Amino acid sequence: MKTLTAIALAASVLISGSAFASADLAKKNGCAVCHDATAKKMGPTWKDVAAKNKGQKDAEKMLAATIVKGSKGKYGKIPMPPQAKAQADAPALAAWILTQ
Ligand code: HEC
Repeated sequence: MKTLTAIALAASVLISGSAFASADLAKKNGCAVCHDATAKKMGPTWKDVAAKNKGQKDAEKMLAATIVKGSKGKYGKIPMPPQAKAQADAPALAAWILTQ
């Protein structure tokens, strides 16, 4: 498990350029307003998102697309508005979320 996390982190380092960029990226892109690792806010926790999507084929690609397009009806009644401004960071964010 530790190895997997390390690999995923290394992958997100390759994409984002820094090991700790992703938590900062989530803040920078305003995701942290609605999401937290473990505390339920307006959006699901990163842990819930990881649990729901881990093991799915192309999870990373799919989540990166979802971040940009928004999402509704998967976790509850509140929809997630499209985050088009996060497009460049979406792959790194998706990879990082899946390591939670
Ligand atoms: C205004 C609040 C809000 C903001 C800002 C927001 N989200 Fe969300 N997010 C939500 C809600 C609500 C859901 C659940 C939507 C649903 O039920 O389908 C969600 C769902 C998600 C999911 C799960 C999608 C899936 O298919 O499983 C991911 C990944 C995600 N958000 C990432 C992000 C990232 C990354 C950002 C920043 C770029 C972000 N969110 C910004 C509210 C927000």
